[in-house]
Amino acid sequence: MKMWDGRFSKPSDRLMEQFNNSLPFDEALIEEDITGSIAWAGALAGIGVFTRDEYDLVVRGLQEILQEYRGGTITFSSQDEDVHMAVERILIERIGDTGARLHTGRSRNDQVATDTRLYTKKALRALCGLVKGLQEAILFRAKNDLVIIIPGFTHLQQAQPILLAHYWMSFFFILERERSRLAHALKTADIMPLGAGAMAGSGFAVNRDKLADELGFASVSENSIDAVSSRDFLLETLATIASLGIHLSRYAEDLIVWSSREFGFVELDDAWSTGSSMMPQKKNPDSLELIRGKSGRFLGNYTRFATTLKGIGLTYYKDLQEDKEPLFDSVTHISMVLQVFTQVLATLTIREERIRNDLDPFLLATDLADYLVRKGMPFRQAHKVIGRVVGFCVENDLVLDSLSVERLQTFSELFGSDVTEIFSWQGAIDRRTVQGGTGMKSVKQQIAKAEGLLQQ
Ligand code: ARG
Repeated sequence: MKMWDGRFSKPSDRLMEQFNNSLPFDEALIEEDITGSIAWAGALAGIGVFTRDEYDLVVRGLQEILQEYRGGTITFSSQDEDVHMAVERILIERIGDTGARLHTGRSRNDQVATDTRLYTKKALRALCGLVKGLQEAILFRAKNDLVIIIPGFTHLQQAQPILLAHYWMSFFFILERERSRLAHALKTADIMPLGAGAMAGSGFAVNRDKLADELGFASVSENSIDAVSSRDFLLETLATIASLGIHLSRYAEDLIVWSSREFGFVELDDAWSTGSSMMPQKKNPDSLELIRGKSGRFLGNYTRFATTLKGIGLTYYKDLQEDKEPLFDSVTHISMVLQVFTQVLATLTIREERIRNDLDPFLLATDLADYLVRKGMPFRQAHKVIGRVVGFCVENDLVLDSLSVERLQTFSELFGSDVTEIFSWQGAIDRRTVQGGTGMKSVKQQIAKAEGLLQQ
């Protein structure tokens, strides 16, 4: 028996039943479904569909179902095609006709849109909190590692010396933008569809503003067609999670490289690494590799749902049921990714000495060119001159800071005895006081700014 089978002359095929059934995954919405139904019962009571006693009966019935679900004592039937039908069926079995009036003026179309938005809002709030937690761990690292100088890379080639804290802060600020993207997705989700009915608006003039207030929605949908059809809030959520995943994968990649024996800049805590089943010496950065790898899943979930959504006419089509699995999957996995990354960073060991020994004097070549510029040489010319100096070093197997002033003067007479000041890592850092640069002053400004952002 199906709740909608009045016009049917035979039951669904077994395979069709299985094909149509979303309960195995949408039972994750049971909490939101029951919250939505309790609020809807209140709205119906407000227009006289339920007496006070009947309303109480419905609310109690729904609360009991939720409690029993949490306690694992609810049994679903193969006839329950989704969580909405399951809850309603159980309610009707328990309280009879009063329960059978709950769906008055409501459709599963506005119901499921409401439930999914409630779930998404809850998930986005939690994700904002987890991103913030990761930002806090990054800030802690930046303050802790404030004076450590590392080679900054372009093309995975040593480029210019930077403060490790400057690198960490880059991670902070991209996450700040991800957090505002999540907050925007939350705004998009924060519109209540309930009351839109199947698509034309409920036939019962319930007070939707009151309903939205009760459910904690910022506003009500302005248009019933938009209300039941739109899944832009999901596209935005999935896209933001994909973006977050992609950015986390880049930082994970750097740390994977830095943790290799060849680099040896960092060491992961044992608790966040794994061993090899065959090679006893191995300690692998699996935590970071999984973080990097899961970015594919997030992008896939976005693509999967966007592809489904594209071309679905207005208003509701069953295709839309395919929105849930990618959503649940992305939310579950990005939550883990964020928590793991936070722990990996918090427990990371920085191998300062190893880093110091690895700094290549060529990292100062730009500073050497800037030295000539300060002496009056146009930059393009200075670039050429230092290029020749570097070429000379490479040919003769010399390090840049071992050249005497006299030797340097053979390349340009602008070199003076003060050139030796250039050959200092700290000097290269200190010269970059420009706002947003790697200079200590700038990095401290970044940290202060970040602290302010986390307070908000
Ligand atoms: N399980 C459905 C979904 O997730 C609920 C809405 C069903 N509506 C309908 N008209 N068949 O989309």
